Amino acid sequence: MTASGEGTARRVLVLGATGYVGSRLVPALLAAGHDVVASSSRAPDPAAYAWGTSVEWRRCDATDPGQVAQALDGVDMLCYLVHSLDGPRFAERDRLAARTTAEAVSRSAVHRVVYLSGLVPDPGGRPLSDHLASRHEVESLLASSGRPTLALRAGIVIGAGSTSFEIVRQLATLLLVQPVPSWMRSRVQPVAVSDVVRALVEALGDEDVTGSLDLGGPDVLRYPALLATFSRCAGLLRVRLPVPLAPSTAVGLGMAALSSAPPRTALALAHSLRDDMVCRPDRTWAPADGGPLLDAETAIRRALSRDPSAPESAGRGDAVWTRRQPLLEAIPSPASVRAASLLAVRRAREVSGQARRLLR
Ligand SMILES: NC(=O)c1ccc[n+]([C@@H]2O[C@H](COP(=O)([O-])OP(=O)(O)OC[C@H]3O[C@@H](n4cnc5c(N)ncnc54)[C@H](OP(=O)(O)O)[C@@H]3O)[C@@H](O)[C@H]2O)c1
Repeated sequence: MTASGEGTARRVLVLGATGYVGSRLVPALLAAGHDVVASSSRAPDPAAYAWGTSVEWRRCDATDPGQVAQALDGVDMLCYLVHSLDGPRFAERDRLAARTTAEAVSRSAVHRVVYLSGLVPDPGGRPLSDHLASRHEVESLLASSGRPTLALRAGIVIGAGSTSFEIVRQLATLLLVQPVPSWMRSRVQPVAVSDVVRALVEALGDEDVTGSLDLGGPDVLRYPALLATFSRCAGLLRVRLPVPLAPSTAVGLGMAALSSAPPRTALALAHSLRDDMVCRPDRTWAPADGGPLLDAETAIRRALSRDPSAPESAGRGDAVWTRRQPLLEAIPSPASVRAASLLAVRRAREVSGQARRLLR
């Protein structure tokens, strides 16, 4: 791809601007000189984001044809980051949102669509997980708009607040002894969120590249090595214990119980642990400026830092379940005890939220 940004300023609609990736992409687009239209299906809350007053907000539920047409009005390019994994019937909702958006794009002046999708493992004849099958269905639905469309496919995205990273962080912190099933030795190629953002900005500027490209950092690791790298960066002493017989459903349920990620998300991630999640060598994004991508250790250290200038560190608008709890962190105690307390507080909040809904 060619370098983009300077000299090609456009009006960009970010559908999913309030999400983990979107909230980090918007400031990068503004820095590249673009006008940004930020959309959310909920009432906008500009105060939740440092960039909240530098964009135009448009409320848009991507499943509503009228709202999508209004959101696309006067827009040149679309970055599609809509994702409803934690909701019931997520595949159906994501299918409807992608189809509605593609139809509206085909009737609009938009001349570039970029979508952040998931890496495709080689499942050796087994069907893809529901989660990945849905991501790829969205790719083809968006491409049906007939406008130049590129899907960038990422596996584990490293950064505080990223769903996949937070599950790794919570398990690696909570468990002093980490059971590793024998089948969980597949390879992953994590990518830092700042490189994901770089790729998205660059992709918007180059309409000649269509189809799909994979996003991955320089390190290809097996899961136990990823857990070990996290422990090293966080200064934690942890032991990994090989477990010969552990059904993947049991592992998924354990991940859902021991992390505060939405349970469906944890189960979906567990389903893909058996397969290598690495980039296709001939279809991997390389930055146009030839600069290096962040290695896993540097990205994890940035995620653990409190440096607000690093996209990998926590953001104000990140999902509630990923946010730090300064009061809990201030109490001197081992990291695993803090992680267990955090989980207990979140579970108590979930139960009280459910009780309030039942009593309404
Ligand atoms: N984070 C990762 O680890 C990771 C890894 C690989 C690939 N990806 C891909 O990257 C993309 C973005 O992921 P993310 O982590 O940023 O997700 P996220 O934090 O869950 O954000 C999802 C966004 O979708 C919006 N949304 C949901 N339903 C909507 C609807 N009906 N209409 C309009 N907007 C809707 C949400 O906005 P409102 O709720 O405000 O409407 C939110 O901004 C996804 O396609 C995901 O598969 C992420």
